[in-house]
Amino acid sequence: MGRMDGKVVFITGAARGQGRAHAVRVAAEGGDVVAVDLCADIASTPYPMATRDDLDETARLVKERGGRVVAQVADVRDRAALAAAVAEGIAQFGRLDGVVAQAGICPLGTTAPQAFIDAVGVDFGGVFNAVDVALPHLLSGASIVATGSLAALIPGTLDSAAKGSGGLGYAWAKRAVASLVHDLAVVLAAQSIRVNAVHPTNVNTDMLNNDVMYRAFRPDLAEPTLEDVLPSFPAMTATGDPYVEPEDIADAVLFLLSDESRFITGTQLRVDAGGYVKLRPQAPAF
Ligand SMILES: NC(=O)c1ccc[n+]([C@@H]2O[C@H](COP(=O)([O-])OP(=O)(O)OC[C@H]3O[C@@H](n4cnc5c(N)ncnc54)[C@H](O)[C@@H]3O)[C@@H](O)[C@H]2O)c1
Repeated sequence: MGRMDGKVVFITGAARGQGRAHAVRVAAEGGDVVAVDLCADIASTPYPMATRDDLDETARLVKERGGRVVAQVADVRDRAALAAAVAEGIAQFGRLDGVVAQAGICPLGTTAPQAFIDAVGVDFGGVFNAVDVALPHLLSGASIVATGSLAALIPGTLDSAAKGSGGLGYAWAKRAVASLVHDLAVVLAAQSIRVNAVHPTNVNTDMLNNDVMYRAFRPDLAEPTLEDVLPSFPAMTATGDPYVEPEDIADAVLFLLSDESRFITGTQLRVDAGGYVKLRPQAPAF
């Protein structure tokens, strides 16, 4: 028996990284997946997005674990395209039990206003759109999981002029995701639909492993390498680990999707190796 037997989950940004890990984990636990990804680059974002081949590989991995999959190219900023993907999932699988709204970009290293617009459009607008198109199909007992970021919870991490307009947009969007989850949990509680956020620290994916992110951790170097940044990465954890793996986030997401968390809603679940408690110590009691 799997923890997702008979359930269908819609996952945005599923071609690689955390999204792929969530898709594979859902399938391994007996569920089916509706997977979407942009599979194209975004001009303001100075590292490559996933490709159609990446999305096909996610589909292959889902099937390898016994899951069924609908995999479609769609931009989370395009509500009609997302609705079409969900409609195809409903046509093939007949139901929808979960949403993982987690497609994201982090366009650091630029002061272009468009980077702010794109970060907000994808990282907040994309979450809102995914919820919007899924909601008419979600059954009682369904679970929505949105991916925020430790950066959303720690002022001064990305929301500074030094991180550029894209960093400000990213932080704004992720704070807005946390706020949306809080209030949407109230709105949907009467329908027994749960809404929770997962806030990762550094995750070992392409969003972390690119030149602009490396420069954010080592602004003193023009072209820092992985070797240069590894000693700086633990700034975002308390354990001293440089990052967590996508599968560590998938463990938390699977729990929130499954009935094991059936009375958990409105939660801001940090998967951050203690980063939050290190960076935001308690205020003095007196
Ligand atoms: N990697 C980290 O260190 C880290 C830390 C905290 C939070 N996060 C968040 O985790 C989530 C997943 O990121 P990841 O680490 O797997 O990075 P990633 O770059 O590997 O994956 C992001 C995926 O989203 C897709 N995508 C981007 N824009 C899209 C759009 N408009 N429409 C559809 N798909 C789109 C990309 O093609 C890619 O497949 C993001 O929301 C990110 O902000 C990541």
